[in-house]
Amino acid sequence: MSSRAHLAGAIVLACLGLTACTGRQILAMRAHTGQSQTGAASSPASSAPFTGPALAATTDYPRNANAPRPEPPADYAKLKDPLTATSANLASGKQLFDANCAPCHGTGGAGDGPAAAALNPKPADFKTPIHAKLPDGYYFWRVTKGGSVPPFSAAGSAMPPWEGSLTPQQRWLVILYVKSFSASK
Ligand code: HEC
Repeated sequence: MSSRAHLAGAIVLACLGLTACTGRQILAMRAHTGQSQTGAASSPASSAPFTGPALAATTDYPRNANAPRPEPPADYAKLKDPLTATSANLASGKQLFDANCAPCHGTGGAGDGPAAAALNPKPADFKTPIHAKLPDGYYFWRVTKGGSVPPFSAAGSAMPPWEGSLTPQQRWLVILYVKSFSASK
């Protein structure tokens, strides 16, 4: 009797174990699917259109460069670049970019400037498909405040705030140029 009860107990335990295991596997599969979608969508090598959310309330960016970006504060969220991508504006944007941003972000915008090797988190690679989907307000917030505000400050971001050295007009010019790196994505 007691060995039967023991056996039954073992079977119940084994079933529980199996169930738990299956549950964990399902969770793992879900997490994996989510991850590979984000990874594929944001991978610089991918030519697939970006489908994930470009912004999220909770995210592990900048530790994970493929994660959605944090939502900008309300006073930035609705801003639109007042300038258009004329060749004159893009040329001015390029001048500002090469002088101020290229040391970290690289002249081609791939995040591979001479200072990049020493930085963690790495400077953003502007050529990924998520960069074509980020709203103007996000760009303006980031260029204005840089890594000086949460959640970027906690991650040790070296992105400088430009509000003291570039006028709003200059920030919008450089943003036009930054967006041109991902324009075809
Ligand atoms: C000292 C190095 C450094 C310089 C100079 C620099 N950046 Fe950055 N930038 C970073 C780093 C590191 C990150 C990634 C961490 C973060 O998002 O804060 C970043 C992130 C950004 C982002 C957010 C991109 C994203 O994928 O979410 C924008 C936009 C940006 N930089 C624009 C600029 C512009 C425009 C300039 C020049 C006016 C510039 N940066 C100059 C280091 C730099």
